[in-house]
Amino acid sequence: MSGLFITFEGPEGSGKTTQVELVGQALAAREPVMVREPGGNELGERIREIVLYGALELDAEAEMYLFMAARRQLIAEVIAPALAAGQIVVADRYHDSTLAYQGGARGVPTTWPSTFPRPDVTFLLSVPVESGLERLAKAGKKPDRVERESIDFHNRVAAAYERLAQDEPQRFARLDATGSRDHVHQQVMNRLEPLLSRL
Ligand code: TYD
Repeated sequence: MSGLFITFEGPEGSGKTTQVELVGQALAAREPVMVREPGGNELGERIREIVLYGALELDAEAEMYLFMAARRQLIAEVIAPALAAGQIVVADRYHDSTLAYQGGARGVPTTWPSTFPRPDVTFLLSVPVESGLERLAKAGKKPDRVERESIDFHNRVAAAYERLAQDEPQRFARLDATGSRDHVHQQVMNRLEPLLSRL
């Protein structure tokens, strides 16, 4: 038996986390396993402190391995067992974040490890970089190390996501996230419907 693996990706301020919450509510009766990256387990939360809020100067490749180490632990502890048990797993960021941020924006050579399960569907929430960053600023949340990067950096992230989506059109569902929250959610549910009916 294998479950359904759904991931959400996007640049800063794309409303990704809101959409994750909405899909979690919509699928509540099926008791989906919700995870966020980096984090979601003890190692992940500790690594999150280091990579996002620590004062350490991190080498770009070392940063990539930290994100990936957190991910591998989450796969081993949570994602793989849940999928093997036929459950739905919804992830707020996954390996495409590393490909876009560390690979695309920081220029670190990246690959997809064969031990990292591929999502069945990846929603890419697309917003113009400036409006995403504005949305973030308005939310008043203290920006983390990655969010504080330059506009050029965030443009490279967005461009890398677009390339990833073009390279794997079957896996990616690219959604215009400038629309209303409910409209975006409806598009998410439309895309999930055939997958859910097969479960
Ligand atoms: P997150 O907490 O998901 O913040 P957001 O509210 O933007 O979704 O992610 C924190 C930051 O970590 C975000 O700026 C993207 C970055 N990140 C990477 O650079 N590489 C990765 O592999 C992951 C998972 C996140």
